Amino acid sequence: MTLSHKMAPSILAADYADFASELQRIEAAGAEYVHIDIMDGQFVPNISFGAGVVASMRRHSKLVFDCHLMVVDPERYVTAFAQAGADIMTVHTEATSHIHGALQKIKAAGMRAGVVINPGTPVTALEPLLGLVDQVLIMTVNPGFGGQAFIPECLAKVKAVARLRKQHGLDFDIEVDGGVDQHTIKACADAGANVFVAGSYLFKAQDLTAQLQTLRKALDD
Ligand code: DX5
Ligand code: ZN
Repeated sequence: MTLSHKMAPSILAADYADFASELQRIEAAGAEYVHIDIMDGQFVPNISFGAGVVASMRRHSKLVFDCHLMVVDPERYVTAFAQAGADIMTVHTEATSHIHGALQKIKAAGMRAGVVINPGTPVTALEPLLGLVDQVLIMTVNPGFGGQAFIPECLAKVKAVARLRKQHGLDFDIEVDGGVDQHTIKACADAGANVFVAGSYLFKAQDLTAQLQTLRKALDD
């Protein structure tokens, strides 16, 4: 099974004082998703933004909002993100004692449910959840900050999840997040990923469209 490639620029690397223009730039570049990192200063040391900011963003964009919650007990925020206009809500197995219930709640609220594991968490943590989710996110850096180096050992986990997906006849997307650039994206795709988050690589240059095209080209090599 081949799922279509989707680019998910991470707005964590954008200019926070001008989300409206940054969203426009992402849309004009031809991205399918915008990846929105929600950090609470507890699950990860960094603090980013919450559902109120996402609701404001929603008024400026029709892109698919891919919300990655790096938040303790994310089930507390399901209703808030659904109301804010999130399309996908992705939650960490490490962040709650009730990951299955959290995913059920996300689906019941009408969003697509994603589950995510940190680099130190094994794929076995995902196995009981695979039939329930629309997206599996394999972190390729430790979460909390943009601009970190890609951890190549995580590719084995992408491969393992792709194998399980095939074995069970499932069709969820596999997303990678962290250190994705023109050098690492192809290995991620070869391992089985089809949704690619990229922050610093896309925003470090003026021309976001050209950067995104370079990533897409790297996938065809
Ligand atoms: C890290 C975030 C990422 C981050 C990726 O915790 O989940 O989405 O924005 O940034 P880059 O692409 O710079 O590694
Ligand atoms: Zn993220």
